[in-house]
Amino acid sequence: MRVVDTIAAFRKELDAARAAGKSVGLVPTMGYLHEGHASLIRRSAADCDVTAVTVFVNPLQFGANEDLSTYPRDLDRDVAMAEAEGAALVFAPPVEEMYPGGPVLTSIHVAEVSDGMEGASRPGHFDGVATVVAKLFAIAGPCRAYFGEKDYQQLAVVRRMAADLSFPVDIVGCPIVREADGLAMSSRNVYLSAEQRTAATILNRALHAGAADIANASAVMAAVVATEPLAQLDYAEVVETDHEYRLLIAARVGTTRLIDNMGVEK
Ligand code: PAF
Repeated sequence: MRVVDTIAAFRKELDAARAAGKSVGLVPTMGYLHEGHASLIRRSAADCDVTAVTVFVNPLQFGANEDLSTYPRDLDRDVAMAEAEGAALVFAPPVEEMYPGGPVLTSIHVAEVSDGMEGASRPGHFDGVATVVAKLFAIAGPCRAYFGEKDYQQLAVVRRMAADLSFPVDIVGCPIVREADGLAMSSRNVYLSAEQRTAATILNRALHAGAADIANASAVMAAVVATEPLAQLDYAEVVETDHEYRLLIAARVGTTRLIDNMGVEK
């Protein structure tokens, strides 16, 4: 297991792996890994010869009033977990390595897919995500890249960006991993007090209620969240594709903003 912090070293490792005939799996993360990330690493390690995990808290995707400075970090723990789950390489660059000239002048905007829901609540967020993921793809080279479905709109943004810009990257979406009581795993769950942690299950309960009444899903989800005094709804929406309805929800529990989603087959 190797840990590198420069673009040149990361690129060299992955180029050498491909030159030796090995397939590469990429798991982009912002660190503070949990079981959701572990499932992505395991899937990559099962599919690919070499799995590389990136750990980078990307300033571009945080709004001015968001939690960039307090975002949880523990690189030693991340490295141990990545190794235990089968990764061969961790890329953990400092901000100056990724953005050496200070603020980046280039930004990728994925129109339409970035609109609404997270895009509406977090202006500029998806531009920051698309820009850093494009940069990671440009650095990593041909690979499969693994993303969790919890960030459902993010996954759609990344898929579209990779297709539009012809990156030689296969995007693999992986199922949400949940705590026993249904709460979707998230690095931000550590912000919750014990009382808020219990209240946070309202998102998943709202999704189940919405799934049971798909014609009224948005209103049903909103009504369920309204029963929890510690939760404040941001949005509850349904997106229809040819094979499913996707229910998506975001709410603030205390000061922590949580998201979740669920697919309902047609
Ligand atoms: O989902 C995340 O952790 C981040 O948005 C990502 C994809 C690693 C980009 O910084």
